Amino acid sequence: MTNNRADTSFRSSSHPTRRGIVASGVMVSGAAAQSSTSLTIPEAVSGSLTVNGTRHAFMLDPRTTLVDLLREHLDLTGTKKGCDQGQCGACTVLIDGRRVNSCLTFAVMYDGAQITTIEGLAANRALHPLQQAFIDHDAFQCGYCTPGQICSAAGLIAEGRAKTAEDIRELMSGNICRCGAYTNIVAAIQQVMGRS
Ligand code: FES
Ligand code: FES
Repeated sequence: MTNNRADTSFRSSSHPTRRGIVASGVMVSGAAAQSSTSLTIPEAVSGSLTVNGTRHAFMLDPRTTLVDLLREHLDLTGTKKGCDQGQCGACTVLIDGRRVNSCLTFAVMYDGAQITTIEGLAANRALHPLQQAFIDHDAFQCGYCTPGQICSAAGLIAEGRAKTAEDIRELMSGNICRCGAYTNIVAAIQQVMGRS
């Protein structure tokens, strides 16, 4: 899980985003209610994350979610944003080896952590066994959910709790596939678990 990219640093972008527009709406509401309360949000917070083996120093709006950091600041668009509210699993990445919905995670919460995205799973120019198994079992159609499914499956296998196909279905239930490729996804995971 290494790559050759040098350490980088980045700052919050200045162009308005949907999240920024929503945030500014929150601040206007706060100003309107100033007679009863005041709201102070720090403009930027510094820290660093190691993403797929490359350390990135950051200066970010503390409300920046991890999925937005990955996609909008680091151009790692393999991680998908589906629902943006923790219900579909498309945004699943590994934080220090544990699977997490990155749309529900503020990047600054994990200062110093190791993040693995779908781009970081392959090693030595070879696909990760789960990537190969998804191909072998035709475990996708449109592919939108696939990065999250594969990252979640990597976390599932590391957890060691799944023993049966039913366990896999239960423990992968947070990853939705609108194309209904569930049977093949379970078969792919079983292949990697050596239980096919
Ligand atoms: S985009 Fe994060 S769970 Fe749906
Ligand atoms: S392959 Fe299309 S959503 Fe899963």
